[in-house]
Amino acid sequence: MPTFEMKCMECGRVHDMSRPAYACSSCGNLLEISVDIDAARERLSKTNFASRRLSVWKYRELLPVTENTRIYTRGEGGTPLVRCDRLANHLGLSHLWLKFDGTNPTGSFKDRGMTMGITKAKELGMNVVTCASTGNTSASLAAYAGHAGVKCVVLIPEGKVALGKLAQAMMHGATVVSVRGNFDQALDMVMRSSDSLGMYVLNSVNPFRIEGQKTAAFEICDQLEGACPDTLYVPVGNGGNSSAYWKGFKEYEELDFVAGHPEIRGVQAVGSAPIAEMFAKGRDTMVPVQNPETVATAIRIGNPANWKKTIRAIKESEGTAFTVADDEILAAQRLMATLEGVFPEPAGAAAVAGLAKDVARGLIDRSSKIVCVSTGHGLKDPDTAIKQCSRPHVIDADMKALEKLLEDA
Ligand code: F0G
Repeated sequence: MPTFEMKCMECGRVHDMSRPAYACSSCGNLLEISVDIDAARERLSKTNFASRRLSVWKYRELLPVTENTRIYTRGEGGTPLVRCDRLANHLGLSHLWLKFDGTNPTGSFKDRGMTMGITKAKELGMNVVTCASTGNTSASLAAYAGHAGVKCVVLIPEGKVALGKLAQAMMHGATVVSVRGNFDQALDMVMRSSDSLGMYVLNSVNPFRIEGQKTAAFEICDQLEGACPDTLYVPVGNGGNSSAYWKGFKEYEELDFVAGHPEIRGVQAVGSAPIAEMFAKGRDTMVPVQNPETVATAIRIGNPANWKKTIRAIKESEGTAFTVADDEILAAQRLMATLEGVFPEPAGAAAVAGLAKDVARGLIDRSSKIVCVSTGHGLKDPDTAIKQCSRPHVIDADMKALEKLLEDA
């Protein structure tokens, strides 16, 4: 059996990995990459794996590439697992870490998937790549497309993408299409046009994206020196990242690199919460939210394309998904910035907001090992940050004025 196969997540049908594909040609469900763990172990035994520098490509043998694959990389992964004693203290917890993926090259976790995705796009001979995006995917794709020398077309919801992300997509030279509609509509347009226009889709429906993103789970276990967190809080938008984390934790467990796996607790914003709604109502199918809203524009998604994958992941982990309100997200963002020196964008604070809510509800074992995933950097969305803070003090260039101000403060 080959080390990697592209299979339907539902019926298991194997698809040709050398052709672009996202959904099963038999039943229409999403594809995923299955890894033969014994074969991967064999590949790993030939390397000095443990001594390699932390990064996405540290895990090359667990990623669907060959020795001949040309890797397109900007130095993604290897992000800090920040021990948060002040925040833990504030919440009454003992062991808390943030996996801060805002330190990736374009400022979000998307780069993990994109280094893998663009590498595959080139291997497949694609000359045009595309995505729909709430901002970060477009920023990341535009950067990697520039690096790899392929054309890039991104569709974004008009007026709902944070300024920094828009600047990135434009600056990296993408064709930026602003759609009068939301992310879900933009993704629908991307999926319907990609084949006829010869564009390779690099949204998280692309199974290779998930492979790159699963490395964040590997990193966490390595950073905890072979231990595994008890609980992982992760924001859920389109549902790709939560399922990628689970895939990573499971593969590491199967490899015996770690004992056990965390419970995944998915966090959605109140106005954009079809996955949390499934758990709250005990539903088996997802009912899309027609007009999703939230201050965390990155996760302003009503019809998550990966809903089946994320539901499966969360259930297998014996976790759940639930909501936090926008003001809880903003409060968590402030806490992270002021107590820990970590500045996330609002979606990157949703996990901590979820943890704070669980603490308040008494749902958490205070001595357990908890990791919150912070997915994007706060500089992406300066407008939302500035709105929450008091204005700078303005004084004359005069020592007396400074002394007076500081005395009064
Ligand atoms: N956090 C941030 C900062 C994001 O940008 C996203 C998704 C998520 C969380 C949710 O991850 O979709 O895998 O469940 N952003 C996508 C984008 C949709 O277009 O940038 P998910």
